[in-house]
Amino acid sequence: MIKVITYGTYDMLHYGHVRLLQRAKALGDYLVVGVTSDDYDRTRGKINNQQALMERIEAVKQTGLADEIIVEEYEGQKIDDIKRLNIDVFTVGSDWEGKFDYLKEYCQVIYLPRTQGISSTEIRSNHRRLRLGIVGNSGVIPKFIREAKCVNGVEITGLYPSQRIDFQIPEDIPLVSSYEELLELSDALYVVSMPNCHYAHVKNAIMAGKHVLCESPISLERKQTAELFGLAKAHGCILMDGIKTVYSTAYSRLSLLAKSGKIGKVVSVDTVCTSLMTKPAKDLERKWSSICAWGPTAMLPIFDILGCHYTDKTITTHFLDDAMRFDGFTKIDFLYCDAVASLRVAKAAKSEGDLVITGTEGYIYVPAPWWKTDYFEVRYENATENKRFFYQLDGEGIRYEIVAFSKAIESRKDPNYLPSAISEEISSVIEALHSGVSTFRI
Ligand code: CTP
Repeated sequence: MIKVITYGTYDMLHYGHVRLLQRAKALGDYLVVGVTSDDYDRTRGKINNQQALMERIEAVKQTGLADEIIVEEYEGQKIDDIKRLNIDVFTVGSDWEGKFDYLKEYCQVIYLPRTQGISSTEIRSNHRRLRLGIVGNSGVIPKFIREAKCVNGVEITGLYPSQRIDFQIPEDIPLVSSYEELLELSDALYVVSMPNCHYAHVKNAIMAGKHVLCESPISLERKQTAELFGLAKAHGCILMDGIKTVYSTAYSRLSLLAKSGKIGKVVSVDTVCTSLMTKPAKDLERKWSSICAWGPTAMLPIFDILGCHYTDKTITTHFLDDAMRFDGFTKIDFLYCDAVASLRVAKAAKSEGDLVITGTEGYIYVPAPWWKTDYFEVRYENATENKRFFYQLDGEGIRYEIVAFSKAIESRKDPNYLPSAISEEISSVIEALHSGVSTFRI
């Protein structure tokens, strides 16, 4: 019996896939099809599969061509599979010509001509056309535009710079002269204006029936953030809080590990996020304060792991400008009935930006800069039990965030990566800081 194996993603199964499978099957008597896992695809840079692994497997099954379906989960698995399953022939489409010659040591390798004129990438682009406008003046915009180009079907329609911008934008991105014009050009908005403008920008967009990805904080007051989520719901719009860390695999895994009891009961979450401003005291009205720039990210693991129901908090801050309530350094301590948490954020001071989640049986350590990590460790008293976890993180999580946003719009379902209760609590803490706290001098 001649055993044949082939691998692929098979997203939105199409005619090209079926033809490949038919020809693969004809090369022998028994066909094994390896379908790539979502995680493995991410590591290969395929970030926007439309269908999850189980749906893709089901579609391959429905062709009736596969005698066996396996999941491809890691680099180097092909050799293991070929040996383990006694494979005689390995085959893939000619787009991979030469790439798998190293398998010739183990079996015959055949590249089949690829069917012209069809691909999952093309189907995804046609299927999902999202006209995304950008409002704001943040320096993150050029990076966001670059990242959006990695996501099929997303087209940046224009930028409305709500204030003067200090960066170059690519020539193919039109600058629009009013927010109304931008709203007309777009199905969805990325709001990255100054935090005190978020409320108005988000509200106008939702009232115009547009979906919104808003750089956190969504507003500077709890009531306003709650109102915006209510409005989004009423208008059938997606409103997503843009904390990019939420969309990184490493963060979601460590959050799950912490909640699953791997380090016992969590008794403390301690986070630090800092970045020094150039010319700190100048031009503050065009800069994000420490609590706005870093507060949402720093609060994320606290509220995500311990919840939003703390019993008390102490905010200590150093305002660079009292009238503007612009904090250069802030420390917040949260007290829960069975745990504590702390954060330190700064734009006018520098520290080690790590995250430590303390449990009764061990702790999770995420080295700086923890908010864009691809790596963390779970550590125990007995160091031989320590475990290290590595994950792929491309584009600091921004491209995953854009994929999540565009998928949410398409399915009209809030993916609930970040519950609105957390966004509201973040706004509430910022509101408390702005309305009077203990301050200190530096
Ligand atoms: N394939 C093919 N003809 C096509 C598309 C794919 O023969 N028009 C083959 C590929 O060469 C591969 C298998 O089908 O052997 C699975 O390919 P996959 O990467 O899942 O499909 P693509 O459509 O190429 O996906 P993408 O656009 O995301 O790269």
